[in-house]
Amino acid sequence: MNADQIELIGVMGGGVMGGGIAQSCVAAGFNVRVRDLTDELNEKTRETMVKGRFGLQGAVERGKLTQEQVNAALTRLSFTTEVEELRDADLIIEAVPEDLDMKRKVFAELDGVIKPEAVFASNTSGFSIADLSQAVSRKDRFAGMHWFSPAFVMRLIEIIHGPDTSEETIQLLEQVGAAMSKETIRVKDTSDAYGFVANRIYFAAVAEARKVMDEEIATVDDINKAMRFGFNWPAGPLEMIAGARKGWQ
Ligand SMILES: NC(=O)c1ccc[n+]([C@@H]2O[C@H](COP(=O)([O-])OP(=O)(O)OC[C@H]3O[C@@H](n4cnc5c(N)ncnc54)[C@H](O)[C@@H]3O)[C@@H](O)[C@H]2O)c1
Repeated sequence: MNADQIELIGVMGGGVMGGGIAQSCVAAGFNVRVRDLTDELNEKTRETMVKGRFGLQGAVERGKLTQEQVNAALTRLSFTTEVEELRDADLIIEAVPEDLDMKRKVFAELDGVIKPEAVFASNTSGFSIADLSQAVSRKDRFAGMHWFSPAFVMRLIEIIHGPDTSEETIQLLEQVGAAMSKETIRVKDTSDAYGFVANRIYFAAVAEARKVMDEEIATVDDINKAMRFGFNWPAGPLEMIAGARKGWQ
């Protein structure tokens, strides 16, 4: 299957990531159905996708999309509370909370309902794809598809291949990423470390920044300045950590 043969993408779980993923997919021309647990949650996701800080209406105001493109995108978007209504999806992107047992249960349920030829992709932040794929029989059509927040804005998607993931599955996800003007990288699955590539490197930098802070080698502001002006980071390594100033200054 090629990306241009996808007739429907099912997004399992709205929320922060599912909504942003669904938004990116409909804006790129895919038909998308989001499944969450209640109509209220679905309504909240739709509202955020349209009017939220990184929503479609804001993209019009910033000149990234035209109103006509947004109107067309919204005709491709639907919501449901029934897993069965994702049955005909060609690709399922799972974005339920980061809980291994929950994700396994969700995939086992999906495996029994969704047509067997469909591909499953998990937006897990770091669980092993081999572990997650134990829940399904379609292990060759199972991969990680790790997006960054806000999903509509951030360009990177990490594609994680487990031991049984087929090359065709990886290529399909790469094509879907390209259709949304995202950059993709290939990541080999491992159960030895949590966080794939970008987060592992980022967390290592944050840990080192905290050590520098604890050793009182520089102030928090100066540590952040070091990376913003020395390496052109958009934000310093300690800017995202609440309470970093505790015990310092
Ligand atoms: N938030 C981030 O910055 C970020 C970035 C990258 C990846 N992730 C990963 O994305 C996933 C989702 O995270 P989030 O921050 O969007 O969480 P979230 O809590 O905002 O959204 C999860 C949604 O899933 C729904 N849900 C729960 N059980 C469900 C089920 N059985 N079927 C359908 N929907 C169900 C919840 O009602 C909720 O709306 C996690 O695996 C997380 O690690 C998060």
